Amino acid sequence: MGVIETSGLTKQYPRVTALDHLDVTVGEGVTGLVGANGAGKSTLIKILLGLVPATSGSATVLGHDVATDGGRIRALVGYMPEHDCLPADVSASDLVVHMGQMSGLPYAAARERASDVLRHVGLAEERYRPIGGYSTGMKQRAKLAQALVHDPRLVLLDEPTNGLDPSSRDDMLALVRRIGREFGIAVLVTSHLLGELERVSDHVVVLDGGRLLRSSATTDFLHATGSLLIEVQGRPDADRLLGQALVDAGLVARPADGNLIEVEVRDETTPDVVRDLTVDLGLGLVRMQERHHRIEDVFREGGAGSVQPV
Ligand SMILES: Nc1ncnc2c1ncn2[C@@H]1O[C@H](COP(=O)(O)OP(=O)(O)O)[C@@H](O)[C@H]1O
Ligand SMILES: [Mg+2]
Repeated sequence: MGVIETSGLTKQYPRVTALDHLDVTVGEGVTGLVGANGAGKSTLIKILLGLVPATSGSATVLGHDVATDGGRIRALVGYMPEHDCLPADVSASDLVVHMGQMSGLPYAAARERASDVLRHVGLAEERYRPIGGYSTGMKQRAKLAQALVHDPRLVLLDEPTNGLDPSSRDDMLALVRRIGREFGIAVLVTSHLLGELERVSDHVVVLDGGRLLRSSATTDFLHATGSLLIEVQGRPDADRLLGQALVDAGLVARPADGNLIEVEVRDETTPDVVRDLTVDLGLGLVRMQERHHRIEDVFREGGAGSVQPV
């Protein structure tokens, strides 16, 4: 049985159908839930937590029915909401201890767990200062810590990278990956950016207008839609040289803005091919990153051709 299973799940608001007969299964590991703004990601998460009732259809989380067992589900699941809900005059430390107690931990245990999770998310001394003075990145970390304090089986992270600069974004994504890999907690993480979740997810689910557009292992997904942006140095024509070598190696490569090269990901060996060719040419690899598509762009660019409705 999946960690999350939905069947014909539908949410009708007066003006919009937020979820439209959604059938999806989420397993262990890290699952990215991707879709443009308004695709229905947050609505799905709130229904899964038993916070919002579905109009029709059904869903289970860890085997519990969302319609009748919301309390039990919320005891087993950690939730990082999309929007800020943090009290400005309370420290992250006090907040997370409090949330731990709300989840049923005795005070001493809540303190111990809070200190552990705050360390894991990388909130150091600042955790004793009022949250009102935090940067967006620190607030996101505090929100993540409170989702983890009661040692959940599953966490639902709603747009954890929202509002973060690129370096904090990478840190947050690395944390998400650790939660799934090292702590063995199942993760459902949402984003309106397609490229960023490919890096950390074992599986990607794409929602479009409340419907399931695609659900597949990340490697298949990268295969269908991914590309890498590469920057090399060492000679004035380094980018041209590597571009030619990539094409000679049978890959699809083209120049991109700022002397970068964009190469289509063929399979999981593509990054290794890039690295090897760079070394063979005696060039230095400055960076290689997955291209961050906005999901809308992927559909528009004809990526949609390979992203088939299921
Ligand atoms: N409480 C609500 N009342 C009416 N419409 C809503 C409500 N919540 C969400 N919606 C609508 O449902 C659709 C899906 O929203 P949402 O689940 O927040 O999408 P996402 O999280 O993918 O951006 C949107 O069209 C949104 O305007
Ligand atoms: Mg949302």
